[in-house]
Amino acid sequence: MSNFYEEQVLSVHHWTDTLFSFTTTRDTSFRFKNGQFTMIGLKVGERPLVRAYSVASTNYDETLEFFSIKVPDGPLTSRLQNLQVGDAIIVGKKATGTLVLDNLKNGRRLFLLGTGTGLAPFLSLIRDPETYERYEKVVLVHGCRQVAELAYGERITRDLPQDEFLGEMIRRQLVYYPTVTREPFRNRGRITDLMTSGQLYADIGEPGFDAAGDRFMLCGSPQMLVDLKAIFAERGLAEGNHGEPGDYVIEKAFVEK
Ligand code: A2P
Repeated sequence: MSNFYEEQVLSVHHWTDTLFSFTTTRDTSFRFKNGQFTMIGLKVGERPLVRAYSVASTNYDETLEFFSIKVPDGPLTSRLQNLQVGDAIIVGKKATGTLVLDNLKNGRRLFLLGTGTGLAPFLSLIRDPETYERYEKVVLVHGCRQVAELAYGERITRDLPQDEFLGEMIRRQLVYYPTVTREPFRNRGRITDLMTSGQLYADIGEPGFDAAGDRFMLCGSPQMLVDLKAIFAERGLAEGNHGEPGDYVIEKAFVEK
């Protein structure tokens, strides 16, 4: 277990029957970049039962936060969903991942496109001052089937603009655009369609797609990533990775099999 910290659950919040979040203590030696993920889970006997989770909190927070689905027969989440305050959890010491600002070229606008729990890394990035130093506009798009799944909406629209240090930047530069596909809501449709139709840009009062100034981070369902990659290829955008910053970067959201 030397690759893991042992942490304690501090709070648990259930959003829906299938989504929940929890916070834990953070070892002072645990380092990560905003947007990265690490392996987390439970000790079962002497064995680690872990999956990759994006860290939803920031590298300057004293606690850690994670956003998870619940899969009734999933080996890990069927247990994790029963977490109680005070329970132990293991957190991998080595965070990694491509959704970091260093992997993207500078530009005018940064689009953070997430479905479901793919929101998690962006919760960290929208609280990173560097995000606002590098991009004039930061557009966070969260796509879900149902309105109830739009977790963190209130925190983003009500709490973040009041943040003592980031509030002013957030009020000026962050645009939050939740969208729902399977029931009525003010914004409707898949992220892919909203982009190709231009509806997204129109709704947020911004000029349309601009290959020279737009950068993207994607996190969510595998098929959405495939479809968005095809759209970006058509538009001549380059994927970024470690060592070679690009126009967009991609990460699969945590999906338990
Ligand atoms: P839809 O309801 O049209 O399938 P899921 O819960 O399956 O992970 O989906 C989360 C959100 O991602 C849903 O709103 C879903 O829309 C959307 N989605 C699923 N596949 C794609 C895709 N290929 N491109 C864009 N959005 C997608």
